[in-house]
Amino acid sequence: MLLWLLLLVLVPVGIRSDWLSIEMPRHAYEGDRVVVACSGENNSKIKRLMYYKNGHRIATYHSASSYTISNARSSDSGSYYCKADRTWFLFVDTTEETTSVRLTVQELFPAPRLTVRPLLPTEGNSVTLSCDTRLAPDRSRTQLRYSFFRDGHALKSGWSSSEFGISALWKEDSGYYSCEAMTATRSVSRRSLQSHVEVQRIPVSGVLLETQPPGGQAFEGNRLVLVCSVAEGTGEITFSWHREDTGESLGSKSQRSQRSELDILVIGESHAGRYYCTAKSDDDLIQSEAVNITVRIPVSQPVLNISAPGAHTYIGDIVELHCEDKRASPPVLYSFYHENVSLGNISVSSGGGVSFTLSLTTNRSGNYFCEADNGLVAQRSEVVALNVTEAPFKVRLVNGRHRCEGRVEVEQDGHWGTVCDDGWDMKDVAVLCRELGCGAAKHTPAGMLYPPVAEENQPVFIQVALCNGTEEALAECEQVEAFDCGHDEDAGAVCEALLLRPF
Ligand SMILES: *[C@@H]1O[C@H](CO)[C@@H](O)[C@H](O)[C@H]1NC(C)=O
Ligand SMILES: *[C@@H]1O[C@H](CO)[C@@H](O)[C@H](O)[C@H]1NC(C)=O
Ligand SMILES: *[C@@H]1O[C@H](CO)[C@@H](O)[C@H](O)[C@H]1NC(C)=O
Ligand SMILES: *[C@@H]1O[C@H](CO)[C@@H](O)[C@H](O)[C@H]1NC(C)=O
Ligand SMILES: *[C@@H]1O[C@H](CO)[C@@H](O)[C@H](O)[C@H]1NC(C)=O
Ligand SMILES: *[C@@H]1O[C@H](CO)[C@@H](O)[C@H](O)[C@H]1NC(C)=O
Ligand SMILES: *[C@@H]1O[C@H](CO)[C@@H](O)[C@H](O)[C@H]1NC(C)=O
Ligand SMILES: *[C@@H]1O[C@H](CO)[C@@H](O)[C@H](O)[C@H]1NC(C)=O
Repeated sequence: MLLWLLLLVLVPVGIRSDWLSIEMPRHAYEGDRVVVACSGENNSKIKRLMYYKNGHRIATYHSASSYTISNARSSDSGSYYCKADRTWFLFVDTTEETTSVRLTVQELFPAPRLTVRPLLPTEGNSVTLSCDTRLAPDRSRTQLRYSFFRDGHALKSGWSSSEFGISALWKEDSGYYSCEAMTATRSVSRRSLQSHVEVQRIPVSGVLLETQPPGGQAFEGNRLVLVCSVAEGTGEITFSWHREDTGESLGSKSQRSQRSELDILVIGESHAGRYYCTAKSDDDLIQSEAVNITVRIPVSQPVLNISAPGAHTYIGDIVELHCEDKRASPPVLYSFYHENVSLGNISVSSGGGVSFTLSLTTNRSGNYFCEADNGLVAQRSEVVALNVTEAPFKVRLVNGRHRCEGRVEVEQDGHWGTVCDDGWDMKDVAVLCRELGCGAAKHTPAGMLYPPVAEENQPVFIQVALCNGTEEALAECEQVEAFDCGHDEDAGAVCEALLLRPF
């Protein structure tokens, strides 16, 4: 009985003792793992261990065990202590209690702030979102991840940088933006307040219709691009192309671009006309000035003709080169070539081709061709060969405008002499013109008309030629040899040679 009394007196009930101790940090940051460890002098004697926070029991164990807060929150701040029931003596138990320890859980970082730059973005421009916060100085090396949201939907998650660039924002992207910062382990996360972003739209202005090739000039069979553009305007713009003269609509395209193209792959003559385009954005519709489209026909196959005075072409002749591309739209640049050497270039601003006169003062036999060019590609005619020979005749006309006109000279034994005009008539000239391949007889002029007159020492060979007009050559006509004639009486002749005949 005394013993029991003694026991009762000595049993320490709910005493704060040195037997049970508590170990835990005083400070922690959100997300930390915090261990509250209570232990006795001999843990084997602990029958029940209870953890308290702010006076409320938070855990009970039936052996020695620590209490772990795996992801600390500020709400975990408070006063912690433990109580333990332990075997004291034989069947007598006693209760021990620790002192209490105050834990303060601090913020790892405050809620981030979202900054939008520029503040008033215009459509199509880039925008930078920054999610700024500050880590506790002694935890500044903690890795943070960032997420960005528009109207609650993630635009970008788990981004390692606090800045997020959007290359182009459109009006439809206006809304409430926010961001979130989070530790890499996801233990702590905080969201910013929402910021309202209103993307500004610039209305369309300065609508312009241009063509490629420029100037509205297109070649038949080629491609023409109608380029419609605006000087200003953002967002989706609807471009439409129209023909003013026929009222026809050629198509439309909607795109987030300040220019759009309409392709006419193969231009025909029917495409010529006046065109304009329009640009529409929201309720603004702006029209361009009209542009004239002209369809040019490119050169295709120029034809070269060479006209010579006679059946044969002799040294001294004048020939005419005619080059023409019948369909080509003017202006056309024609070039003439002899054996690849340029003879001349002539530009014509209306149809009908062009003629080039060539005097065959020397032997210019060989290949001729012409080239026509009206801007697309130069085209060559087929090659025309010209055979220039020495006149085989024993007669000639000198000092005329061409070899079919002039003072009459005949050759005897390697010497050239003249013919007297006694009885000189159209029959004689007809034979002469035939012999020279110069066509029909035209006149019987006096030789004096073709100065300079013959040299004093040059003989007169024929006094009278008595041709009946059908002979092939002057030599076939009956003749009277010269006996009394001066060079002031020399005969002349004009044949029709100027009426050139196609070669
Ligand atoms: C601890 O307590 C157990 C059980 O009461 C006992 O067996 C053991 O000897 C004690 N150890 C120490 C070091 O006192
Ligand atoms: C366009 O063509 C019309 C006639 O079709 C003409 O009156 C007008 O001058 C032309 N404009 C230009 C810029 O060539
Ligand atoms: C050119 O020659 C061709 C044939 O070679 C002929 O058909 C055409 O009429 C000639 N043109 C002229 C202008 O002489
Ligand atoms: C002219 O040019 C063509 C091709 O360009 C060539 O085949 C020809 O031999 C040339 N002729 C002369 C005479 O140079
Ligand atoms: C004709 O034009 C061509 C090319 O432009 C040039 O090389 C040539 O010399 C010109 N010919 C003459 C005779 O001027
Ligand atoms: C040129 O004409 C002469 C005389 O008519 C003839 O003998 C010669 O063979 C011709 N040459 C060519 C290349 O045609
Ligand atoms: C003219 O030149 C061509 C080629 O160069 C030659 O074949 C021909 O014999 C020449 N004719 C005369 C009359 O010299
Ligand atoms: C003209 O002269 C030629 C050659 O002397 C002769 O053959 C021909 O019969 C003559 N014709 C006339 C119609 O006299």
